[in-house]
Formats: sequence, structure tokens, C-alpha cells
Amino acid sequence: MKRAHRYDVIVVGAGGAGLMAARYAAQNPNVSVAVISKLYPTRSHTGAAQGGVGAALGNITEDRPEWHAFDTIKGGDYLTDQDVAEAFAYEVIDAVYELEHMGLPFSRTPDGRIAQRKFGGHTREFGKSAVERACYAADRTGHMILQTLYQQSIKDNVTFFNEFHVLDIVIVDGECRGVVAFELATGELHTFHAKSTVIASGGNGRMFKVTSNAHALTGDLMSVVYRRGIPIEDPEFYQFHPTGLYRIGVLLTEGARGEGGILRNGSGERFMERYAPTIKDLAPRDMVSRAMYFEIRDGNGVGPDKDYIHLDLTHIDREIIESRLPDITEFARIYLGVDPVTEPVPVQPTAHYAMGGIPTNIDTEVIRDGNDTVVPGLYAAGEVACASLHGANRLGTNSLGDLIVFGRRAGVNAARFAAASPYGELPKTVQDYTHELLQRLRHGLGKEKVAHIRKELQTTMMDHASVFRTQETLSRQVEILRELKERYQSVGVEDGGQQYNTELMEAVELGFLLDNAEQLVHGALNRTESRGAHSREDYKERDDDSWLKHTLIYREGDGVRIDFKPVTLGKYEPKPRVY
Ligand code: FUM
Repeated sequence: MKRAHRYDVIVVGAGGAGLMAARYAAQNPNVSVAVISKLYPTRSHTGAAQGGVGAALGNITEDRPEWHAFDTIKGGDYLTDQDVAEAFAYEVIDAVYELEHMGLPFSRTPDGRIAQRKFGGHTREFGKSAVERACYAADRTGHMILQTLYQQSIKDNVTFFNEFHVLDIVIVDGECRGVVAFELATGELHTFHAKSTVIASGGNGRMFKVTSNAHALTGDLMSVVYRRGIPIEDPEFYQFHPTGLYRIGVLLTEGARGEGGILRNGSGERFMERYAPTIKDLAPRDMVSRAMYFEIRDGNGVGPDKDYIHLDLTHIDREIIESRLPDITEFARIYLGVDPVTEPVPVQPTAHYAMGGIPTNIDTEVIRDGNDTVVPGLYAAGEVACASLHGANRLGTNSLGDLIVFGRRAGVNAARFAAASPYGELPKTVQDYTHELLQRLRHGLGKEKVAHIRKELQTTMMDHASVFRTQETLSRQVEILRELKERYQSVGVEDGGQQYNTELMEAVELGFLLDNAEQLVHGALNRTESRGAHSREDYKERDDDSWLKHTLIYREGDGVRIDFKPVTLGKYEPKPRVY
């Protein structure tokens, strides 16, 4: 049976950006708002963000939004759009106070202000020294944001459709008119007819073997829109966070280094002094992750295979570790049997964050080409989106800032558009594409298993397209993806049931991951320079003459087409990054 719903604004995703958008849209009395989420909202991945949200409150030492904007631009290796970074650095201050007023339980300074700590790439006076900019709630900042925003959304009477997977977007005559979703509990398809659609569905880290990302982060909407002709911007810039727990990738916050933690190689040396003499362990993530791998490659790693690095907190007071970093302390104890109070913790870089995503302008409107042509009725915010804030490398804490600043903008703009627009008509065939997609998987040959293809995808992406890349590894990965896509055509699902068919959804998600990997690898192969998190060993230098531009990747036939979009420059001229 076909199910149909109509809301003025629908929001896809119930993490920080989605809930912020929903709350703000719901403030407009003339619009109805619904959130569609494939998870129960408080399980969204925003809850896993630990160390803080960056805002120049200056509660510990002097700080200024222009320093924050500069750090964001320099941290992004000058691929950041400078107008976006400047607007962001001012707005995030107000957004943090707003969260405080909603009741978010921030940690406090002795005199009762929001506590702040140092983080990677956060500096005062345009790079002179590290500054305390990360506003935190112990190491559970994302968790607290998620809980606070969910409570507020309930108060605002936002309607939730939980455990609904959005599998298609409805674009008619170039306008967005809603989405089609699969209800996990019943196996039914639902059409959501909307005037405005906000995509806030998170990232795609599950394409890598070692990742801090939860199982749900399969890049669904980055694939859904791509299949419908919308490009993905800058997918080659994928961030590896330096401190994932060795082998399992669970995040150990950069806040640990903000509290004084030190990275040490196999000889016990604080090697970051050699790579970033001014801010050392608090250099931006791309630089730290690369430095860790250089140490490992040079035989300076730790352990019998010399394949990890130590995060040393043992010189920090137990009271500070246990009060400001309680979760990561538990993670190290539980997963590795290591007590950070008395022993260094084995860590390795872990796939963490997509700087690229669905292209938007500064107002979160989705754009479809290098001329900034807007898709009317379609908005995106958070990790799934690319407003060009993070450039080639995101600074720690700017993800939570991005959620609240651009989630808010998306909600306001989507509601304004909806209030002024009529509902466009929906085609009668609106569910056909999704129906066929599911039928193909339900009745596939069954020669191939989802788990096998996914494992190969994750292992090969790690080997060929992670922190370091070359023409050879990337070309090899293009071939591997072609083969995996071929094999994916022969996947079949054994569970023939309708209710809670998670096997079917995993098969769909694998298709999404394969698309995401294709976007990343083609973007990386095409970009013959090194910038931020994109490190080509065969093109080691940043090349502003040829590559100071954003990538746009389109699906074309069975392959891809690549186009570009200019970077918005401003008062900060691109310079070599020295820390
Ligand atoms: O290290 C962390 O706490 C992660 C923060 C972030 O990715 O912004």
C-alpha cells in the first residue's frame, strides 16, 4: 500500500544540523515540519562528537572571531570560501550562547562561564600561539547538543518519522518536491511531499576499514542526489583524525591533546616538535595524521610491528583526566585494556569526516553547477553538505559549529521558502524507481554477499585512497570499484520478510557507499596536487595556479564527469601553511 504525507518542510536526518533546522523551521507559524531519520534521533552520530564546539568567546584568554575565521581558512589550506568562514566565525558565538540558553550543560570555569580548551589549529593573533576556543561539556559535547536539541524539538511539536530510510529525492522540472522513504518497521514505501526539503543526514566514513564513524554513516543522501544529477563537491578531501584507538578507530578526542596530551613515537620522542614547532601536537589534523604515518614508515612506530603511535596523558592529573575526559578514558580501558592515567594509549589515524558533500551556497541552498544555480526547495547542512567552510581540511570543533550555524540557516531559509511557495505536483510514478531498486535486491541472483563486497571496499579504500595517494593506487582503486559495482549487481537478499528487513537496507547502503567511494577516488585521481587532507605522493606540492578551485563530480552514464567551481577568496592570501 502506498503511503503519502505532506509537510511544508521536511528534514532528512535527526543529528545536530537536522534538529537545528527543524527547530528553526518550526518557529515559523505558517509551516508544518517533519523530520525523517533512519535512526532513533538520539542515536544520531552527532552524539559521538567529543571535544567541543569552537567559538571565540574568549573565556580563558583573549580570542576574536577574525582569528577563528583565519584559522579556519588556513587550516582548510585556502580552499575554504572566505565569506563563509567569516560569517561562520561570528555566528557560531551567538549559536553557542543559544545552546547554553536551551539548557546545554557545558563544563564551567571556576567563575561559572562556559569552559574552553585548546584544539588543533586554533590560534591567537593569526598563528602566534594556541588559544582556548573549544567550548566543551567534558568529552560529551556532541551528546549534550543532541539531547538538548531533541528535547527542544519535542517541545516545538516537530513530527518525527524514526527508522525511515530516505532512498530517493523527487526532482521535477529542476525543483525539489520531497523524498521517498522506506519504513523499516513495515517495509512500506512512503512519499513525503514537501515545498522545502533539508538534507542533514551526515557522513560516509563507513567506506573505510578503520573509522570513527558509526555503522549508519553510509553516505546515503550523497548518493541519492548524485543519482539524480546533482554533483558532489570536493569529495577527495576526506579527513583522518589522528587519534583513533589502534585497530578499531574509536575516537579519542583531540581535546586530550588540548588538555596537554602528547603524541610519542617508538623512542618516546615528542615527534610533533619537528613537524609543527609552534603548536606541536595541536597542529591541524591532516598534518598530524601524516606525521604519524611518516614516523611509522621510518620505523619509529610503537609495538611489535611498529605500526602505531602513543597518546601520552600520564603527566596530566588524574582528576583532570577523569573529569574532563571521562568517556575516552573509559573507551581506552574497555576496548584496549589500557588505563590512560598510568599508561600511554595506542592510537592510529581513523577515517573521520568528509569535508566535501552536497554543494550549497552560504544560505544552505543546494546548487547544481559551477555557476551557483540553485535547486529550488532543496537545502543541505552539516557533514552531508559542502558550504565550502572546511576547505581541504576541517579544524577540530568546526563540525559542531557547522551543524548549529548552517542547521539554523537551513531551517530559517527552508521555512521562508515554503511559506511563500505552493506545492508542486508529484508525478504518479514517484515511487517506481525506489520500488525497482528494492525489487532488484530482493530478487537478485544472490551470488554475492553484501558483507564480502563491503569488506573489500573498506580494505581497499584504506590501502589506496586514505591518508596518502598516488596515481597508481588511485587508478587501481578505480578498477576495483568498477569490479565491486559489477559484483554488486549480483547481490541478493536472503531475508524475504517485510518487517525490520535490515539485510535489505544494508544492501541498499552498500550501493550508496560504492557511489561515495567512486566520487572520492575520481576526485583524488583528478587533482594532481597535495592540499590539506588530499596528499598525493606523486604531486607533493600545493599548486594554486592550477588547483585553487573546488571539484564538482557528476554521475554520467556508468562513469563520472568532473567540473569545477571557483574558491571565494578574501583578505587572506593563500600562503604556505607553517605552524
Ligand atoms: O577530537 C574531537 O573531539 C573531534 C572533534 C571534531 O571532529 O570536531
